[in-house]
Amino acid sequence: MVVLGIETSCDETAAALVDEHGIVLAERVFSQIAEHEPFGGVVPEIAARSHVSHLDRLIAETMTEAGTDFGELDCVAATAGPGLVGGLLVGVMTAKAIAAVHALPFLAINHLEAHALLPRMLEPIAFPYLVLLISGGHCQLVIANGVDDYARLGTTIDDAVGETFDKTARLMGLGYPGGPAIERAAAQGNPDRFALPRPLIGRGGADFSFSGLKTAVRHAVAELPQPLTEQDARDMAASFQTAVGDVLCDRTINAMAMFSNYTGTGGGNLVVSGGVAANRYLSERLATILADSGFRLNVPPPALCTDNAVMVAWAGIERRHSGRRADALDTPPRARWPLDPVAARPGAKA
Ligand code: KG4
Ligand code: ZN
Repeated sequence: MVVLGIETSCDETAAALVDEHGIVLAERVFSQIAEHEPFGGVVPEIAARSHVSHLDRLIAETMTEAGTDFGELDCVAATAGPGLVGGLLVGVMTAKAIAAVHALPFLAINHLEAHALLPRMLEPIAFPYLVLLISGGHCQLVIANGVDDYARLGTTIDDAVGETFDKTARLMGLGYPGGPAIERAAAQGNPDRFALPRPLIGRGGADFSFSGLKTAVRHAVAELPQPLTEQDARDMAASFQTAVGDVLCDRTINAMAMFSNYTGTGGGNLVVSGGVAANRYLSERLATILADSGFRLNVPPPALCTDNAVMVAWAGIERRHSGRRADALDTPPRARWPLDPVAARPGAKA
């Protein structure tokens, strides 16, 4: 079984061919960073146009490198949400066209589910498992019960963690995307120099909040000589990243207890995925809370944490294995598409 995956939900245009054993036959990721950099963030219209310009070529290169014909595919899987609708339309329409022409099943993939399932391609991880999904648009702790079956334990009540990295980096003049820039700067900074808040730490539940941290960085930056010296930026980055690490660890410890109660077991797998999971400091911090916990940490390599089409193709394979045949060719892209449609409002009392 070989599946073509297509990813266009944000600012990466990507195509991949993956087989049912999780072997990546070929993949391409085109990052639009240079096109959005002058604006300090993703511009939806530019992203959509860029997907149109690059996607066909990336698919053709992937098919050629793998030596695969469209007729040999089992199905075509495209991210159909959540994300920027203009970009999603490009990927979904392209996938539907290929499916229609070659009489293949089309699968509409949830981008968050693709992040959450990808680690199963790399290691044997049985359902249920705990997922810390940390990306540019999301920050959630969910239980993966199975394909298309998620129970959300907590989510952010304001900003996503990657968004906080990006906005904080911009405040410090570190450029876009902010996550890698902050990680690099923080490696040479003093994490104790600036006292920053750790929102929600010590409170019950598994929700997150980052807007207070972002505001505190803005105030602290405003008190420094402008533009920041290299060392000031490094110290601020290290102080910020450490605060994020403290928050993620505190919330994840609560979620591990909630997971154990839910499953009636003393542990399991903790999968960390999404673009922010590419941060080595944060994954090392998360590893420290697992000692004697009964949980095992699964973090994909950085290139599979950030957006890619391998995870979309793999989600397609998982869906086919779980008995899903195809989605209708009039399935629309969805800007919002929660993993757990019945989850309580963020911050609400359970
Ligand atoms: O999963 P992703 O590629 O796209 C979304 O689905 O949102 O995540 C992108 C986010 C960006 O906010 C980026 O700054 C962040 O992931 N990111 C990082 C790192 N690499 C990417 N954040 C912290 N440290 C990193 N090394
Ligand atoms: Zn993503």
